[in-house]
Amino acid sequence: MAALSVSTHFDWVLAPYDIAASKAHATVLHAAGLLADDELIAMHAALDALLADVTSGAFAPEPSDEDVHSALERGLIDRAGRELGGKLRAGRSRNDQVATLYRLWLRDAARDIAGSVLDLQGALVDQAEAHPGAAMPGRTHFQHAQPVLLAHHLAAHAQALVRDVDRIRDWDRRAAVSPYGSGALAGSSLGLDPQAIADQLGLASVSQNSIDGTASRDFAAELAFVLAMLAVDVSRWAEEVIVFTTAEFGYARLHDAFATGSSIMPQKKNPDIAELARGKAGRLIGNLAGLLATLKALPLAYNRDLQEDKEPLIDSVTQLRILLPAVTGMTATLTFDTARMAAMAPAGFSLATDIAEWLVRQGVPFRDAHEAAGECVALAESTGRNLDELTDVEFAGISPALMPAVREVLTVEGALASRSAIGGTAPVRVAEQLAGLRARIAAD
Ligand code: ARG
Repeated sequence: MAALSVSTHFDWVLAPYDIAASKAHATVLHAAGLLADDELIAMHAALDALLADVTSGAFAPEPSDEDVHSALERGLIDRAGRELGGKLRAGRSRNDQVATLYRLWLRDAARDIAGSVLDLQGALVDQAEAHPGAAMPGRTHFQHAQPVLLAHHLAAHAQALVRDVDRIRDWDRRAAVSPYGSGALAGSSLGLDPQAIADQLGLASVSQNSIDGTASRDFAAELAFVLAMLAVDVSRWAEEVIVFTTAEFGYARLHDAFATGSSIMPQKKNPDIAELARGKAGRLIGNLAGLLATLKALPLAYNRDLQEDKEPLIDSVTQLRILLPAVTGMTATLTFDTARMAAMAPAGFSLATDIAEWLVRQGVPFRDAHEAAGECVALAESTGRNLDELTDVEFAGISPALMPAVREVLTVEGALASRSAIGGTAPVRVAEQLAGLRARIAAD
């Protein structure tokens, strides 16, 4: 029973929050006339001493302690004596305690992670700004599609991370609710003021239903999703780093400090950080799925199953705290071979859409324009040439509308510049986009 039940090996991270909440609880007991003035002072002094000992490691859980709450109660009684220490338990339960403390821990962790995401966004935007005009092949279905700016592509990853940070901020507002005062499930009869505790803990409001307060863990599941989504977004960039740094692509090189060698192959430079990013995303998805499975069909109110709510999130947070700075360093030190990317940008007849859209601007229906551009591709391909190597006569033979002026879009620069509506890859739009991202990062 004891071996199964004990949770101090993971819930000890809640100890400073538990002590802060205990101090707040003591003040409402005092306000309700359940602690005398001198008792409140002594209680706070004992809790401060306990916090100092927890911080220094002088006080730690023992095998006989079931969880962080019971360990700290033992520590308090050691310091305040049985009579005073025993008074703090009035009007609260471990059920409302843990539901509150876990929110406090998650809010701090989420804020910390948001800061690391901003650093990664910054590294992506730095790289984008360092390569303002560099073109690369844009892909759909992983096939060459249309040329894009490297800066536009990097900014696309930064945009996904902006939403990840937004989700953390949105979640934070929803999570700022205090279940303290819900008691075991039905609330407290002692005239304690839950809002006063919430105020002292920096939580905006109080649970409106004590059953919900003690039984709900959707705040944890929601953050598990937000963090899994973040890891998935990071994994998409990581996968591209893996591909871009292969000999076949040759778009980028990893810095030695952010790559690993092989124990047998002396030439190897492996993208382990990116691979771990890919792998960790799977792990974080598992943490989300596991927590949802724990919550599914669980009757109200508190059940001990809920103790399983902590390890998945503690793990997701721990992994991201290690992973994000590594991915940021890898990103910041990546060297792009812009000549190689530029050379590949028009490959695969990626300017064919530009021919079709140029024809549309001349008044040709898109259906016919698409067909004519397709014929240009077929002719160029069968004769081993690029689209801009077709002659004026050949263009005119395919469609009388295909006048020599079509050549203005048969360069990568022309194709990029023409995509100048909001969100497009034209250099002017990308520069605006990067300025917007910079402003977002600074504001967060
Ligand atoms: N360690 C428990 C948890 O994390 C705290 C609440 C225990 N309550 C109880 N009645 N056994 O969920």
